[in-house]
This record gives sequence, structure tokens and C-alpha cells, in this order.
Amino acid sequence: MKPIISASILSADFGHLADETRAALEAGADMIHFDVMDHHFVPNLSFGAVICEALRKANITAPIDVHLMVDNPDLYIEAFAKAGANLITFHEETTPNVQETLAKIRAAGMKTGIAVNPDKPLPSLELVRQLDMILVMSVFPGFGGQSFIESSIDKIKEARALITAAENACYLGVDGGIKISNIEVVAKAGTDFFVVGSGLFGTPDYKETVDQLKAKIC
Ligand code: DX5
Ligand code: ZN
Repeated sequence: MKPIISASILSADFGHLADETRAALEAGADMIHFDVMDHHFVPNLSFGAVICEALRKANITAPIDVHLMVDNPDLYIEAFAKAGANLITFHEETTPNVQETLAKIRAAGMKTGIAVNPDKPLPSLELVRQLDMILVMSVFPGFGGQSFIESSIDKIKEARALITAAENACYLGVDGGIKISNIEVVAKAGTDFFVVGSGLFGTPDYKETVDQLKAKIC
């Protein structure tokens, strides 16, 4: 599938969030990655559906992929659907019934993803057959700007093999520490969906950065 760069606005300047989001998209980012943290599942608190809605009101029309790093993801689904989100990714261990959570996301008209922490196993083949994305975490979630965990490369390769075996058009996403310096090796391992936060918003020229990221994966 065509590789996607999803800009993680957790690393944007929140004082100018709509402008920063627009700038990332104008620079060539394909999607917006929206990191929701509840201070329980991860040791940090970020933003919720009202901010997603505010971006839509500010005429941000690109797809928004919401990464729920929260206990009880079911509680957030309806609000994010109303706020204009397109894809919801959650962590398997945060819900008592994965099938119900997936069904709720689909019923609300959104695509589904499962995120996998560095110390957690990949989803089962049966589950992969139902997903639109597996999101391999290449850092322990909670903060932007962390270093890519090198052992994630083997996990990405395993996830690619799983998706091939599942014969499903499912994105293989990677989230955490993606930069111009490592995106090529991450792509070669099988990734086709790249979440980039500080590797984009921490750089002086977003267009130059996205051009360089894309040159290494396209
Ligand atoms: C980590 C978040 C990531 C983060 C990525 O908890 O899920 O999406 O914003 O940021 P970078 O690219 O800076 O590691
Ligand atoms: Zn994320």
C-alpha cells in the first residue's frame, strides 16, 4: 500500500495547534496522528475529542488517526466519531472485550487499529484479519521525543509476516522515534504507515523534512 506519513501533533506547538497541523499537511504529511493519554494507562495527560473537533472547525480536512492510550477506550469512541476522527487505534490490554470495542468503532463509521507496546505480543492471526492497522510501538508510550527501540525492527518483520499470512489489506504502522536517519530501515522491515512527531515538529523546515522522509520510503 502507498506509504503514509502521519504527523503526531503531540510534538506540535499547542499554542498554535491548527496552524501547526496545517503546516505539517501542507508540507506533505498524509494524515494527523492524535495521541490521547489519560494519565492512567500512560503517565501523561494530553488532549481529547474537543481538540479534535476544534481542528475540524479550523478546516483541517485530512484523515485523523486517533491513538487511544487510555483505560477503557470504549468510553471515547462516540465522542471521537462526532469530532470527525477517521481511525481509532487502542491497546488490546485496555479493554475487557476486544471484539466489542472493534464493533463499536466500526459501528461509529471509523477504521480500526491495535497498538502493541514493546513488551506485548502481536495480535493473533484471527484478529489481524479484522484490522485496518497494526501499530507497533517502538517506544513505551507516554511521551514524544523518545529514542527508537532497536529491537522493534524484528517485531516489525514479524508483524509484516503476520499481515501477509492474514491476507488482509492492513496497514503496518510504527510509532515512536521515527526520524530521517532511521525511516529507511523501518520501511525495509515492512512498515507502510509512519507516525512522526518530534522528527517533524522538532525540525526547522517541515517541507524539507517531509520531502526527505518520503524520499527514503517511496
Ligand atoms: C508516544 C506517542 C507517539 C509520539 C511519537 O506515546 O504514541 O505517537 O507522539 O512521537 P515521536 O515521533 O517524537 O517519538
Ligand atoms: Zn501515538
